[in-house]
Amino acid sequence: MEGKRVLGICVSARKNGNSSIILNELLKPSKEKGYQVEVLNLGALEIGHCIGCLGCSNEFHKCVLKDDLEVIKNKIEEADAIALASPCYYLSPPSRLKAVMDRSAAWAIEKMANSKKKKYGVAVSVAGGGQSVWYPLQRIYSSLFLGLYNCEILGQFVIGQAFNKGEVLLSPSKLRLVGQLGENLASSIAQGRGIKSSINECEDKLICPNCLADAFKINKDGGPTCAVCGLSLNKDQSDQFNRFTPEGAQIHQSHIMNNVIGGILAGDEITNRMKDYWERNVLHDNDFIINTDLSNIGTAIQWDGEALRELKQSIPHVLQDVVKKALEKKAAQQGLNHITKEIFMQIRPKY
Ligand SMILES: Cc1cc2nc3c(=O)[nH]c(=O)nc-3n(C[C@H](O)[C@H](O)[C@H](O)COP(=O)(O)O)c2cc1C
Repeated sequence: MEGKRVLGICVSARKNGNSSIILNELLKPSKEKGYQVEVLNLGALEIGHCIGCLGCSNEFHKCVLKDDLEVIKNKIEEADAIALASPCYYLSPPSRLKAVMDRSAAWAIEKMANSKKKKYGVAVSVAGGGQSVWYPLQRIYSSLFLGLYNCEILGQFVIGQAFNKGEVLLSPSKLRLVGQLGENLASSIAQGRGIKSSINECEDKLICPNCLADAFKINKDGGPTCAVCGLSLNKDQSDQFNRFTPEGAQIHQSHIMNNVIGGILAGDEITNRMKDYWERNVLHDNDFIINTDLSNIGTAIQWDGEALRELKQSIPHVLQDVVKKALEKKAAQQGLNHITKEIFMQIRPKY
């Protein structure tokens, strides 16, 4: 089993604090099994915030900001398993964890979700408060983080009432549970099948059997749907969507593409409304309904070589096909059957 890589991610910047202790306990069984264990201390890395430029939707999924994000992505990609240890700050994990997710979203959705490599994930959070109302978003973010990077989530829980640095050492019974979860992780790697931890069953509330998060949307028929992975818990419901599967990731991606199409088809309207809003302080009265159906454009649209080259150079790689089709519909709506470079420059989306 040598050569298997286990990545420990400590979200806290507090050196040797509670999260570090928890992570150490989570990783001990993997070390004993001789796996290659590595720890990333997010607090010691430089991680900027997403600026929403969509630059990461390029062929290489690289963020335009230059900092330690690529190091983190590479380690995540190489790992066979991920152990996450995070403190709770204002009811949820510290913002650096969210920054990693935001900045690697395109990569995770397009590449990780389609990866054949099976990963396992576990997470333990730590919070100062003694009641779960003090840390309601910990499970949600832990599941989201591990699910986003293609991990089968074996178990997670939150240790409360550990406010001071190192205070978690006052509760060896809880640390033993952490060790058990670490055992699950190590054994799952050894056996090549995910062994779900029984620790989750200790929870006093409903958790999603798939991603172990605890946030639900109640459907009209009364059944709950997991807000994190999308799994419907109502057995007789036909919608068995789960966004942490290759099929689910594709459906999720197609929703995103639909937004891209909408933005292109309504591009002129958006430009006009922006002008009216910012230059004339006018907010339009009516809602603008977009028909994003790209079938039946009606006319065959030709592209000039130059226009196609410009599209390839200026539009994020993963959006090129859908942008091309949407621009053809837009051209057809304008009575055109030919897209030149000039026309492309006029009707292209600006991200
Ligand atoms: C900015 C900040 C916000 C916090 N917010 C919460 C909170 O909302 N709920 C809670 O239970 N504990 C909260 N805590 C307490 C931490 O979760 C607790 O100190 C934890 O042990 C820190 O873990 P660490 O030693 O790994 O950094 C907060 C701590 C900080 C520094």
